[in-house]
Amino acid sequence: MPITRDDCQALDASDPLRACRARFKLDENVIYLDGNSLGALPRGVAQHVVNVVEREWGEGLIRSWNEAGWYVSPARVGAKLAPLLGAKPNEVIVTESISINLFKLLVTAARMRPDRKVILAEHGNFPSDNHIVDSVARLLGKEARFVPAGEVAKAIDADTGVVTLSHVNYRSAEVQDMALVTQAVHAKGALIVWDLAHSSGAVDLQLDGTKADFAVGCGYKFLNGGPGAPSHIFVAERHLGALDQPLTGWFGHAEPFRFDDGYRRADGVRHMLCSTPQILSMAAFEKALDAFEGVSMAEVERKGRALGDLMIELHDEFLARLGCGLATLRDAKRRGNHVSLTHEAGYAVMRALIERGVIGDFRAPDVMRFGFGPLYVRYVDVHDAVVAIADILESGAFNQKALAARQAVT
Ligand SMILES: Cc1ncc(COP(=O)(O)O)c(C=O)c1O
Repeated sequence: MPITRDDCQALDASDPLRACRARFKLDENVIYLDGNSLGALPRGVAQHVVNVVEREWGEGLIRSWNEAGWYVSPARVGAKLAPLLGAKPNEVIVTESISINLFKLLVTAARMRPDRKVILAEHGNFPSDNHIVDSVARLLGKEARFVPAGEVAKAIDADTGVVTLSHVNYRSAEVQDMALVTQAVHAKGALIVWDLAHSSGAVDLQLDGTKADFAVGCGYKFLNGGPGAPSHIFVAERHLGALDQPLTGWFGHAEPFRFDDGYRRADGVRHMLCSTPQILSMAAFEKALDAFEGVSMAEVERKGRALGDLMIELHDEFLARLGCGLATLRDAKRRGNHVSLTHEAGYAVMRALIERGVIGDFRAPDVMRFGFGPLYVRYVDVHDAVVAIADILESGAFNQKALAARQAVT
């Protein structure tokens, strides 16, 4: 018996996270399945940002660097985020973007393994990551080596200094076993930098428990920090004394306001900073984290998997015969928090869906991606989204020239 809309409503009624949806400002006419690209807006964020602008900036002016705690905000917000990552408060700092932070971490890690010439990365990772790997290798005179994610552990050898991997792949949602891979990396004397872009706020991370060395994550996806929200860096406590990052801007200096000519690194994770923090984005991100208050990340992970299982079950029932394919693993334990469906007209289908208020995104060449922000997506949303996809495919409503024309952001 295929699962019905009533069944989905029953699942929502017994969902331990059901109360969290009210923490977000959502349009009830929209089904939002793109929290893996841009999380929804948590209530209270807009008011907080207005407050920061009007009071802290407008009235406090430059005094707010001290009095409103702007100066210490990267570490303060890092400490607030740390429990969601399975990390200690002093191991996380919030700053800049994923790509920039990845650059900093890769160089830092490579400098800790100066005699090893290989940086090992995965084929099919988010392109920005691999462009950065390539550039870091060229800058440092190392070799960038790319293998499929599943072969990384086998490919580590005595030449490998640094390994970098996405914990959850942006396209297939495949999850790497963080503990196992990290162990394999350490067994060969190398270090690992994890990309948590599709993990932070979506899965039950245990950065300390798995002995990860370094990680970088995203503020604007499952953490709902707003467009372009600052990224975060994790450095395992055992490495904090040996950091030597390449972007030696004044915010990572031990005493920026001494204005010394020479660079002296700040103690601890603060050394990973480079520039003046973007306070308005930081304010939005800090407030957005309140949406996770009292929430168990194990429950978040469990619900994300259940929503994905539901989408796959409904795909098999209604979409497979209409030309859709599944580009995500069926095994929920090996899948992150989105489901990717393929269709040869995937872009036009996604545009038609968005016109109906069902929002996902598209990744070339043919992947329609549906992400499940577990704090606000309901089982019934997944059901209704699949009904809409089936209707668009059956009716041919996607078959319009205007829908096929690519917009700049897909
Ligand atoms: C896996 C992954 N890595 C890196 C990035 C790049 O992020 P940023 O634009 O913050 O550098 C993204 C962006 O979506 C991503 O999904």
